[in-house]
Amino acid sequence: MRHDEPNTSAANADLFAADPDGLNGLTLQNVGKLFPIKQKRCYFNNASIGAMSLPVIAAVDRFLGNVRDNGRNDYPNWCRHADTEFKDRIARLIGAKRSEIAYVKNTTEGLVTVANGLPWKAGDNVILADIEYPSNVYCWMRLKRLGVEVRWVKNRAGRILVDDVRAAMDGRTRIVSLSAVQFSNGYRHDIASTATLCREKGALFNIDAIQWVGALKIDVEKLGIDFMSVGGHKWMLAPIGTGIFYCRSESLDRLDPPSVGYHTVGKTEDHMDYELVYRPDAGRFEEALVNFPGIWGLDAAVRVQLALTSEAIESHILGLTSRAAEGLRRRGYDIVSPFGDGERSGNLSFSHPRLAIEDLEGRLRSAGIDLAIRGGKLRISPSYYNDTQEIDRLLDVLPSA
Ligand SMILES: Cc1ncc(COP(=O)(O)O)c(C=O)c1O
Repeated sequence: MRHDEPNTSAANADLFAADPDGLNGLTLQNVGKLFPIKQKRCYFNNASIGAMSLPVIAAVDRFLGNVRDNGRNDYPNWCRHADTEFKDRIARLIGAKRSEIAYVKNTTEGLVTVANGLPWKAGDNVILADIEYPSNVYCWMRLKRLGVEVRWVKNRAGRILVDDVRAAMDGRTRIVSLSAVQFSNGYRHDIASTATLCREKGALFNIDAIQWVGALKIDVEKLGIDFMSVGGHKWMLAPIGTGIFYCRSESLDRLDPPSVGYHTVGKTEDHMDYELVYRPDAGRFEEALVNFPGIWGLDAAVRVQLALTSEAIESHILGLTSRAAEGLRRRGYDIVSPFGDGERSGNLSFSHPRLAIEDLEGRLRSAGIDLAIRGGKLRISPSYYNDTQEIDRLLDVLPSA
């Protein structure tokens, strides 16, 4: 994006205000008031599509209002804000630098950027798990035409063990690409150990973190991850069509942007200067105009999370899934999600030895409680705006037998 033009409009200053929604003083106790869905439903399906908060909707609205009233006049300011302070906030949330972040439209776009951007040689291999969401499968399978082998790590009772990843690697392993949290059972991968392993072996480490970021805290710099993709529409509680692609500075030049356009280069309005020199930062992966309305909403969602802090969000969400798991066990349900130290996430999967999950899901839906069926099990994914009363309501509605 370019932001070197003069500021041509002073109107709609609100669009660029520091705290337009008055998020100062936001706590886990009062954040629920920002989520109208709570007045209608107990919504435990944030791992599919997160519910929108009032600040997110207001931010999108403010942006669209700006275009309604000013057309393109604030374009330099949109670019400046999206590229600087918005990315600074995202960077703070995930432990990165502004220059390491690109906006994408979904997780898949980030994963595809890595798969299609690496300089492959026939005989190279990539390590995947056998329980990945297809976004982190197809882009790698497609590399077969270049002679790249996909090596599958078999899950063990829903877990992907670091030792199994190690055993699958060899001198031709270019990259390990894993979900940080498994979508089907909520297993939280030991990404710190896998990042260390990859460094030792000289391989890159790529994560699909859409089931992690927004629910659990992360510090990509400390962990030593090379690439991370996060769609905005799940735990981030940001608009559909938004997402974040993180590319570690040291790994930036390892990727040739698979899709280039007029924003890949760092030039100004000189559209006839065709010198193809990439921007020096991860913004080179934004090939053209980005989804500004969505990005305004994404920024509002990030501001809510920063106000609450990732630490508090993680501990609140894990508290809710613990409470649910205890209550479910008491009622005779089986917890399917791995539940050991460090394995838990915001996703909790369960089933009943006798009761059909479709019947249970239908019963809950009629009672105003939303969850998902994944991998033949029921899955709840409470976010930071959910509370213990809602978990207790879920438990009350579920039959115990
Ligand atoms: C682990 C995982 N990766 C990727 C996706 C797809 O995300 P997107 O639509 O942002 O590409 C999902 C959606 O359910 C998912 O659970």
